[in-house]
Amino acid sequence: MTTGSLLVADLVIAVLASAAWLGGGAASAARRRPLALGLAAVALLATLARAITITALARAGWWFAAEKVLIAAPLSLAAVGVAGPRLLRAPGDIRAVAVPLLFAGYATSSALLVTILHGYPASAGAGLLAVAGVVAATVISGRALGARPSRTVSRAALVVAVAALLTGTGLTVVPAAPPVPHDHGYPVARISDEPTRRVTLTAGTARVDASGRNVAAWAFNGQVPGPELTATVGDVLEVTLRNRDIERGVSLHWHGYDVPNDQDGVPGVTQAAVRPGQEFVYRFRADQAGTYWYHTHSASDVGVRMGLYGVLVVRPGSVTGLDVTVPVHTLAGRPLPAPRVEQVAARVPVRLRLINTDSTTHRYALAGTAFRVAAIDGVDLRGPTPLADTAVLIPAGGRYDLVFDAPATPVALFVDGRAVYSTGPVSTVTDAWPVLDPLAYGESAPMPWSRFDKTFTLVLDRGLDLRGLLPRYAHTVNGAADPDIAPQVVRLGDVVLFTIVNRSQTVHPWHLHGHHVLVLARDGSPAAGSPLWLDSFDVRPGEVWKVAFRADNPGVWANHCHNLAHADAGMTLHLMYS
Ligand code: C2O
Ligand code: CU
Repeated sequence: MTTGSLLVADLVIAVLASAAWLGGGAASAARRRPLALGLAAVALLATLARAITITALARAGWWFAAEKVLIAAPLSLAAVGVAGPRLLRAPGDIRAVAVPLLFAGYATSSALLVTILHGYPASAGAGLLAVAGVVAATVISGRALGARPSRTVSRAALVVAVAALLTGTGLTVVPAAPPVPHDHGYPVARISDEPTRRVTLTAGTARVDASGRNVAAWAFNGQVPGPELTATVGDVLEVTLRNRDIERGVSLHWHGYDVPNDQDGVPGVTQAAVRPGQEFVYRFRADQAGTYWYHTHSASDVGVRMGLYGVLVVRPGSVTGLDVTVPVHTLAGRPLPAPRVEQVAARVPVRLRLINTDSTTHRYALAGTAFRVAAIDGVDLRGPTPLADTAVLIPAGGRYDLVFDAPATPVALFVDGRAVYSTGPVSTVTDAWPVLDPLAYGESAPMPWSRFDKTFTLVLDRGLDLRGLLPRYAHTVNGAADPDIAPQVVRLGDVVLFTIVNRSQTVHPWHLHGHHVLVLARDGSPAAGSPLWLDSFDVRPGEVWKVAFRADNPGVWANHCHNLAHADAGMTLHLMYS
């Protein structure tokens, strides 16, 4: 069983246990004896079963089980300890066990709430709040049911509850993270070399065609995707960004391109958003070949979704053969690009540059030919071997370059089952194909570093964020949401190790700006294939990734989930050079 499914199983069992204890309590209060006993039996079994799931999760990593071991387990023990013996005595009047059963229900549900609302790291505050809730609810139920605990017992209980509530509230308020120093002067240390490629991108509202339907969009130069920017290594790009009428503001982020910090296009961090009527000029040298893309980083969730993105391809020199970019996007619910069919002569070398500009993973399957994955996230792989009848999963923001020599018969590229590019009719069904694991593909090479100067752990989860004006159910990192997540501070030259843990129920495509990270391990198994230098990688529920990089690009860099709705809902932090 994967850790992801263990997390789900544990949650389901916890919900079942709470519901059965509470239901049993209600049934016994209503003197429905068989129902009460039946539910209590289910509750007991479910509570005991959690011992198994919690132990298994703790073995997968303390991050997955901390609050379950420290808070849920003691509360569950209390539940069983209080309700169990009374049930075994099988009272003549079933109503006598109502309060103990309800107590067990409150104990298990408040532990469940700690997991759902608070998560990792477990805190004394959350534990105390949970205890306070259980005591208060039990006392109130006892009174309502006319059970007469002695005055001293219920007074003492109330005092405990109030004290726990007060200390708990104090302890759960996390101290604010040191603020990311936003330099509102935004000095631009633009390189002085004469540009060799000049482009103007004007952002504006537009109506565009999306697979046969005319839809409202936000577009660069009136088109979605925006113009494809191409360069040759060594070129100096100068891109003038203008905003015609996008009220939310725009900027250009060169996704995966490790530009100098002041060209990174993150409003509030490296520049101010470009407002309607304003412009901003980006200038940088194209010194890395590969497949990249650009997109607005202002209101990025809605901005990218509405169409403010485009392709950036940097080639090492002249192109031989056919070079095709396939930027996949969902615009107003319609898939882009429209299917393209072209004739290709046999033996022509073909490179398909696959780009996922959506916020969720896509599955790509190339049928009709053997192929190799030449590059991932713009970086060439070492010793990629031929693959056939194998699909690849590309995370949000990620890019794969597939290469092959055109066979005499047609080939077709399917994205989630839809033919997007083909050289003729292909009727292969690709749904059942196995998926490539990039960690086991290509030829390995020795690790470039033997020690780490800085290590950081990022635990991805969901939780209640009470720090803003309105409480929100945020996507969190280490229990906090943007802007309260402590930045990761490094020094120039440091070798930095990140451990990224997903204890939530959703995939988080992780994306660090300004650096490519080398994948070291996933779930404890070392990466065994070609070195993988990624800027976007899916951390699935229950997974633990270890990645490292050298801090060689000074500045303040966004480090966030590239499911941009998650990034907006809290899952953004910053890497800072001291
Ligand atoms: Cu493509 Cu900060 O993102
Ligand atoms: Cu996410």
